[in-house]
Amino acid sequence: MRVLITGGYGFIGAWIARDLLARGDHVFAYDLKEDPRRLRLILPEAEVKKVTFVPGDVTDLPTLSKAVADHGITHVIHLAGLQVPTCRADPMLGAKVNVLGTLAVFEAVKAAGGQVKRLVYASSAAVFGGPDKYPAGPLADDVLLVPSTHYGVFKICNEGNARIYFQDAGISSVGLRPWTVYGVGRDLGMTSEPTKAIKAVLLGRPYHISFGGWTDFQYVDDVAKAFVLCLKRPYTGAKSYNLRGAVVTLADFHKALCAVLPDAAHLVTLGTTQIAIAHDLSDAGIERDLGPMPKTPLEAGIRETVRIFAQLRDEGRLDTADLDAPKPPPVVVADEP
Ligand SMILES: NC(=O)c1ccc[n+]([C@@H]2O[C@H](COP(=O)([O-])OP(=O)(O)OC[C@H]3O[C@@H](n4cnc5c(N)ncnc54)[C@H](O)[C@@H]3O)[C@@H](O)[C@H]2O)c1
Repeated sequence: MRVLITGGYGFIGAWIARDLLARGDHVFAYDLKEDPRRLRLILPEAEVKKVTFVPGDVTDLPTLSKAVADHGITHVIHLAGLQVPTCRADPMLGAKVNVLGTLAVFEAVKAAGGQVKRLVYASSAAVFGGPDKYPAGPLADDVLLVPSTHYGVFKICNEGNARIYFQDAGISSVGLRPWTVYGVGRDLGMTSEPTKAIKAVLLGRPYHISFGGWTDFQYVDDVAKAFVLCLKRPYTGAKSYNLRGAVVTLADFHKALCAVLPDAAHLVTLGTTQIAIAHDLSDAGIERDLGPMPKTPLEAGIRETVRIFAQLRDEGRLDTADLDAPKPPPVVVADEP
């Protein structure tokens, strides 16, 4: 496959690139600027060099179309987008990048006239409202979606547009709805705090996770593999699907972290605010339509994250800029993912 990843230098993009390279696929990172620092955390330099940088803004349809044509792209993974706080602060910019950018991706695929065999894009669990808006889960993909953020509304808009591209132009696509994705390279956004806590404990530093309650922890390699499996498995249609990892409380996460790094017992503290996104989501839909998805148990995902961070520390390459940066404001109503 010749796979174009929009937002390819981001957290999830780096892990997808790693997975694709391991399978011998060709990877093209379509992003605003060349910034392979997250790739370097998880790949040797020789592999990093195999990722072709394609400069461009996801909202720029001519550049996107040219990239698809010039590089003979056969598959597209669309990740580029702005996160919850940016969409909240500037909804018009959020809509431009997240909604118009996604339309541009579909238009580029349409213009390629059958050259692109599959499009998989990132939606989000933020399409759901808070747990208080629903009966007890697990919730199916198609329950009433009442998001509490512009970001969630934009993601629903993309899911709707995907359905129309299938209806009007026969373009099949798969939308995936991650929740709290964790692992090496997760350095942005409020739900990055559990990953930052892992890094802090490894360095003997205290860390306060500003939220509490329930969440769904999804190990980044599982999420990356889910995107890749959805590129490869037979599929016709345009649905968007919940993913499901470890649905636990933050207290359970803390316990699992203590099992791997006992110092977490006195170094990590938790907030109490529940993020206003339903946490108990069923992934029966994706497993029915696209087959089983990988699920790394929480403690194993934490252990693997610690292993990679420790290796980076021993090599003098563990970046602590994300720990040193000022924390985002505490969760009030709803935030990531
Ligand atoms: N990380 C999570 O827990 C999570 C959860 C749910 C959904 N998602 C979704 O998954 C996708 C990827 O998430 P991530 O954590 O890797 O994000 P990230 O912020 O780490 O990466 C986003 C990438 O998109 C690029 N980008 C931003 N604007 C762009 C533009 N206009 N044109 C081209 N590139 C642009 C950025 O440079 C960056 O490399 C996003 O769409 C996000 O909404 C992530």
